[in-house]
Amino acid sequence: MTTYKVGYFVGSLAKESINRKLSKALVNLAPPGLSMTEIPFKDLPLYSYDYDADYPPVARDFKQAIADVDALLFVTPEYNRSIPGGLKNAIDWASRPWGQNSFTGKPSAIIGASPGAIGTALAQQSLRGVLCFCNSPLMNTIEAYIHFTPGMITDDGQVTEDATVKFLSNYMEEFHTFIVRVEKALSPND
Ligand code: FNR
Repeated sequence: MTTYKVGYFVGSLAKESINRKLSKALVNLAPPGLSMTEIPFKDLPLYSYDYDADYPPVARDFKQAIADVDALLFVTPEYNRSIPGGLKNAIDWASRPWGQNSFTGKPSAIIGASPGAIGTALAQQSLRGVLCFCNSPLMNTIEAYIHFTPGMITDDGQVTEDATVKFLSNYMEEFHTFIVRVEKALSPND
């Protein structure tokens, strides 16, 4: 069986991030056909196209980490009804230099957790527009807006509610299916 490499971004830089807890749960619940690796971005400087002629090593490494995986998973909070600035900065780095967009043809999915009832829905809508422009085939369904409650996920990513275990496991199964489907569509002769 093929194992697909998934790079995941945690949109929050906070030490106690609930989205980091969610990412650990998703790693724990991923099906055997997915191998999960975090792609960190906190050390990237703020992007400017002045860098395009000569990307710094940290940005080259970041783009290489994306090139090395088959698919991308965005686990993000909602900040002010959009995605956190650090994540947007990372996406801008990955999308450039012009003609070397790291997202082209790279399947992706979005999930996020918030203590608020709408569970990052507006941040996800915003991110969908960005990734669509960046030409990443995006999983449309199932959507996953996680209304985080205290104790729902432990620090090491154990989910304490059966219904949430089932939902997140199914989400990762669906993502696996989507990655296979995109690969077949883009490389039908492989
Ligand atoms: C928030 N929070 C928040 N929540 C939400 O549901 N919609 C929003 O627009 C915002 N806006 C927002 C802006 C900023 C700057 C902060 C710091 C927070 C609350 C947010 O969901 C909560 O802090 C989560 O814990 C953030 O996820 P992480 O960073 O813990 O993973």
